[in-house]
Amino acid sequence: MLSGLRALVTGASSGVGRALALELSRRGVHVLATARREPLLSSLAAEQAAGLCGPAIVYAAGDITSADFRRHVIATAVEQIGGLDIVVAAAGSGAIGAFGAAAPDTLNRIMEINFFAPAELVRQSLPVLAASYDPAVVFVGSILGYHSLPLHADYCAAKSAVRSLAGTLRMELEADGIGVLLASLGPTESEFWNHLISGRRPEWSRGKQMTAARTAVAITVALERRRREILPGFQAKAFVLIARLFPSLITAILKQRFQRDVAVDHNQPQ
Ligand SMILES: NC(=O)c1ccc[n+]([C@@H]2O[C@H](COP(=O)([O-])OP(=O)(O)OC[C@H]3O[C@@H](n4cnc5c(N)ncnc54)[C@H](OP(=O)(O)O)[C@@H]3O)[C@@H](O)[C@H]2O)c1
Repeated sequence: MLSGLRALVTGASSGVGRALALELSRRGVHVLATARREPLLSSLAAEQAAGLCGPAIVYAAGDITSADFRRHVIATAVEQIGGLDIVVAAAGSGAIGAFGAAAPDTLNRIMEINFFAPAELVRQSLPVLAASYDPAVVFVGSILGYHSLPLHADYCAAKSAVRSLAGTLRMELEADGIGVLLASLGPTESEFWNHLISGRRPEWSRGKQMTAARTAVAITVALERRRREILPGFQAKAFVLIARLFPSLITAILKQRFQRDVAVDHNQPQ
């Protein structure tokens, strides 16, 4: 049961982080929500308050890639919700394009938001989590942490690194009683494609997607059950299963599927 616990949720202004903040609050968790867009955090708190269910959501707006802001957010959690039992690293962003033609800054920015920020947030949170009687960390990863996709090199690298980090921390933090959950998402309805660091939304992304609300329920249930790893939805499970059982087949399919897009992208001015 999660009721009465205290959670920090990053990426809470939209998509999965927002849905998760609401779902956790609905289950009685005291949530500190964070992201850069303050008006969206304010409307999240208002939506929760209007639902009259669960403790009020408090929020702090800022850039989670800044070490100072991460320190501020953890201090705010101690001050406003009395500490932390759960840290959810959901903030993330994507980039599309041929690796060879991309600006080096794209790789830096993708690694900053998808890997360094969650990794350092968890490290900075450990002293506070240690005071909890049942602490947990949640990394929101991607199925692209299991198998790469052409034109998504930076993002795949970042999400693979997140998956690797989650695996190591799961072993290292077990002795301190800190659970580590990796939720690797497949295509999910959110603002993800509206805020790419570079490139344009690809056609393949317009297919069937999980809703952010269903994803949030899957993550919350996994937290309650102390699961270590989940792949919410059929598409995510099928992709990872095929990638594991038939890696050469999936590589051939993806190469074929993206051949034309890669050729076009190489010829585009950056
Ligand atoms: N949607 C998918 O198909 C999909 C698939 C696999 C994995 N994922 C992962 O799921 C997670 C949630 O993404 P989403 O799909 O819900 O997309 P989203 O709606 O775009 O949400 C991303 C969140 O991250 C926040 N964010 C981005 N950069 C930030 C920064 N520098 N500082 C603070 N907050 C920042 C955004 O808020 P502000 O702009 O207000 O800062 C927003 O709240 C990400 O880690 C993403 O990689 C998504």
